[in-house]
Parts: sequence; C-alpha cells; structure tokens
Amino acid sequence: MHRKYYKILKVNCSKKIIESLNIALEKEGALSISIEDPYDGTTKEQPVLLDGNSSEQYWDNSLISALFDSQANIDEITNTLNNAFGDLKLQAEKLEDKDWVSENRKQIKSIKIGKKLMIVPSWEKPVSNKNINIFVDPGLAFGSGSHPTTTMCLEWLEKNIKGGEKVLDYGSGSGILSIAASKLGASQVCGVDIDNQALESSLSNALKNNVTLKVYKPKDLKGKNFDIIAANILSNPLIKLAKDFSGKIKPKGKVVLSGFYSDDIEKIRTEYNKYFSKTKVYKIVENWVCLEALK
Ligand SMILES: C[S@@+](CC[C@H](N)C(=O)[O-])C[C@H]1O[C@@H](n2cnc3c(N)ncnc32)[C@H](O)[C@@H]1O
Repeated sequence: MHRKYYKILKVNCSKKIIESLNIALEKEGALSISIEDPYDGTTKEQPVLLDGNSSEQYWDNSLISALFDSQANIDEITNTLNNAFGDLKLQAEKLEDKDWVSENRKQIKSIKIGKKLMIVPSWEKPVSNKNINIFVDPGLAFGSGSHPTTTMCLEWLEKNIKGGEKVLDYGSGSGILSIAASKLGASQVCGVDIDNQALESSLSNALKNNVTLKVYKPKDLKGKNFDIIAANILSNPLIKLAKDFSGKIKPKGKVVLSGFYSDDIEKIRTEYNKYFSKTKVYKIVENWVCLEALK
C-alpha cells in the first residue's frame, strides 16, 4: 500500500509581499500555510510583537511553507507565482504523511528546573513524586517549559515563593508559571493574556494540575495588591506595562520580567526604575534576560 504524502513549497519572502503571497498560495490550492522566522532557534531569532496590529505580526524576512495535496502540479504553481511576484526561489519538498501529533509529542520531554520543579508533558507519567510535577500540554499556546525565558521565570518563582503569596501571571500562555506558582505555595493566582486560545490553554492545564486559576483579558483584570507579578512577554509591552504593574503590586512586592534580549536591558530598567525602588538582572541565558523589580 502506498503511504499518503503531501507536497510542500517553501520560500523566504519580505514583509511587503507576505499577505498577497498568502492569498495567491491559497488560490493555488494550499491546504495550509505556515509563516515562521527563518532564524528561529538561532542567535538571529527575532521576537515579533503580537498586539493585534497585523503589519507588526511578521518578521522582516519570513519563511513561508505551503502544504499541497500530492496531486498538485507544483511546476505550474511555481510558474504562476514567479510570474506574479518575480523570481521567488521557491523550493519544493515531499512530506510523508505521519501521525504528526505523536511525532511532535516525541520531541517534548520532561524537564527538571531549579531544585524541585519538573515539567512533565501531560501525556507522560512523572518519573518521581518527590518533585513538584507540573503537567503541561502546550497545545497552541507558548509555554512547554523548554524556552530559556520560561525556565528562568520558573527558577525565579521557585526561589521567591515562600507560601501564601498572591501572584499575577501576565501573558500566561500555557499557564505554566501560574501552575508552578500555585504548586510552590501561592495562595491565589490570576492569569492574564490577550489571546483567547492562551487563556483556554491556561485553564485546561490548571485543571490537569488540580490548580485553581482565574483568567482574564487585560482590560477585565481588576485585581490589585499582588505580592508577585511574573510577565514573560516582549520588551515593548513590558515597557508599556511598567506603570500598570506598579499600581497592581503591594509595597515590597516583586515583579519578574522576561522575554527580551540583553540589548533591551537598559531601556527596560530605565522605565521600571521610574516606578520601582530597585531593578536587578536575575539571569541571562542564550542572550535572553530575566530581570526583577522590587516595589
Ligand atoms: C512568551 S509567552 C509566555 C507564556 C508563559 N507565561 C511562559 O512563561 O512560558 C507570552 C504570552 O503573552 C501573551 N501576551 C503578549 N502580549 C501581551 C499583552 N500585552 N498583554 C497580555 N498578554 C500578552 C501572548 O499571547 C503569550 O501567550
């Protein structure tokens, strides 16, 4: 029996043509289209700001991959696109059909963080019950625990949660920081995210961990007097949020920030120093920074 396969067209393209190229690929019958940073996982990786402004959601140079059925005439599609956009240097590949969910799951392993935390994919059994096991199904939301920014925030939470704190996880994604905070002893945890899928993911992961979590869209969060705010977002929103965070945190409360590169340390510290008594770099891993601010 022949295994089903697909054809993929890959191309690097500039921000200017990305939307029209997307439409053209759809017209040519693409079954799905993904847009990625061609430098993903390298030191040239560029975080993009997801703030609802579509022109800001792409990289200057993006890698587009379009999936086509095995019957698609790739030469004809390539010609049509080259005629419309100039020589695009499209590359054709073949993709065997596999159980992609299982394949993807094989890549995600349990990770030990700090002294006690163990991030366990929700489909695996924990290796030991002596750890604080956090079961996470990243789904479509960011936060499998393997990214340095998440790891540094988790380590920081392990060091700073003593028990009984009220914690705000701003940009909760998969909810991994909320769940860790709760399991480390926080008495109340709130998650906030601009993305509905992230809020759903935070809630379903909290449920898997028997953790009580309240989630909000930013405009709906009325809570104040947090002992700890953790925000692993990106530098621009972190800068915009400095004043807001200062109004939500208790005197002597702490904010932990990550999601930005070392080039941005000074501009973030300058903004947070306006509202907080002290800021300090906690750690830098692979050029990603984790910074703390004390009210
Ligand atoms: C890098 S992920 C962090 C997820 C998780 N907290 C972690 O540490 O792994 C950033 C999350 O912040 C959300 N986000 C981005 N900008 C935001 C903003 N201005 N307000 C609230 N959430 C935001 C994104 O939707 C995303 O889920």
